[in-house]
Amino acid sequence: MTSFWSIWVIVLTLACLALIFGLLLWNLKNYTGVEEGESCGHEFDGIEELNNPLPKWWTYMFFATFIWSVYYLAAYPGLGNFAGFLNWTSSNQGVTSLEESKKAIEEAKANGHWVQLDKEFEAADERFGPIFKAFAEQDIETLVKDQKALEIGQRLFAQNCAQCHGSDARGAMGFPNLTDNDWLYGGTPDKIKETLLQGRVAAMPGWQDALGDQGIKEMTAYVLSLSGRKVNQKDAAAGQAKFAMCAACHGMDGKGSVAHNLPFGAPDLTDNIWLYGGSQRAVEETLRHGRAGVMPAWKDILGEDKVHLLTAYVYSLSQEK
Ligand code: HEC
Ligand code: HEC
Repeated sequence: MTSFWSIWVIVLTLACLALIFGLLLWNLKNYTGVEEGESCGHEFDGIEELNNPLPKWWTYMFFATFIWSVYYLAAYPGLGNFAGFLNWTSSNQGVTSLEESKKAIEEAKANGHWVQLDKEFEAADERFGPIFKAFAEQDIETLVKDQKALEIGQRLFAQNCAQCHGSDARGAMGFPNLTDNDWLYGGTPDKIKETLLQGRVAAMPGWQDALGDQGIKEMTAYVLSLSGRKVNQKDAAAGQAKFAMCAACHGMDGKGSVAHNLPFGAPDLTDNIWLYGGSQRAVEETLRHGRAGVMPAWKDILGEDKVHLLTAYVYSLSQEK
């Protein structure tokens, strides 16, 4: 934390504590002018309001928690950058490097903790392995009609894929929507499975050096015009004249790698669906600096059987139901 934010946190925290303390003191006095246990003079449906303050022990508890919070903030880290007078550190703060965490894992293994985890994984594999295997022997078209298979696929998706593609698989900036039948690498079962097994690394180069500011502006106009957007026609024409440099990956018509059976994962630029945003600024940013989306490979992490089920699930998302 910078010292500004540290001071900010300290001032806010202490001000709140002071406020709470003031409120506690203020509540000790009786402002009603009515003796304790006497009627306040209101009655409603035969129910009378008496002046019943909090029991004393309850009030003391408030003071006790207040004193505890002051002690805690003084003793332990928490108040901005202040480390606390006990100089306490959490037990895992020692792990600061990959080397050290590897050492910690080795230690856990030596102590037998890890073996237990391994055994649990093995037990799970023994139990569920045959189920995955049975599904893995069926082809994707069959699995897509199998409610049970899709349910398992969905669960695997929630555990492994949702953090990037969203729990509804509709993606986000930089993470493709898997439900719209607009594919970077192809939407056939084979292509989807290939994507999942091997992962994908996209490489859209940056063009700032090659095109310059004016060139980026013109190319942006042309790219937007491909999706039918209103642009400066002169700029777009100038961009079009240079589009050959993009055609190797996006195709001369801009319809993308899949349309031209190319392996690059270059998006269709004519459908007004944007992986990195379709505002003029976002497209300019893409062209200036390039983009490099990475889809992890799952072959070694999940194994082929689970990937097979996931393929069926992902494939099902973009099929007419
Ligand atoms: C760390 C984030 C991340 C995780 C986790 C992840 N993906 Fe991806 N995925 C991506 C990115 C980024 C891309 C796009 C790569 C690119 O830009 O070319 C992608 C692309 C894809 C594609 C290709 C889409 C197309 O249009 O061709 C599919 C299919 C896919 N992911 C499915 C999955 C599944 C299933 C999982 C879970 C097993 C998963 N992803 C987990 C980030 C992730
Ligand atoms: C080497 C292949 C390659 C070349 C050449 C190339 N691109 Fe790309 N382009 C890609 C890939 C791959 C992506 C997807 C990047 C990702 O998923 O991270 C992409 C993404 C884009 C996007 C983002 C689309 C979206 O949906 O957000 C635009 C816009 C774009 N390219 C325009 C161009 C233009 C204009 C040129 C020529 C000046 C060009 N590209 C040249 C491979 C290429």
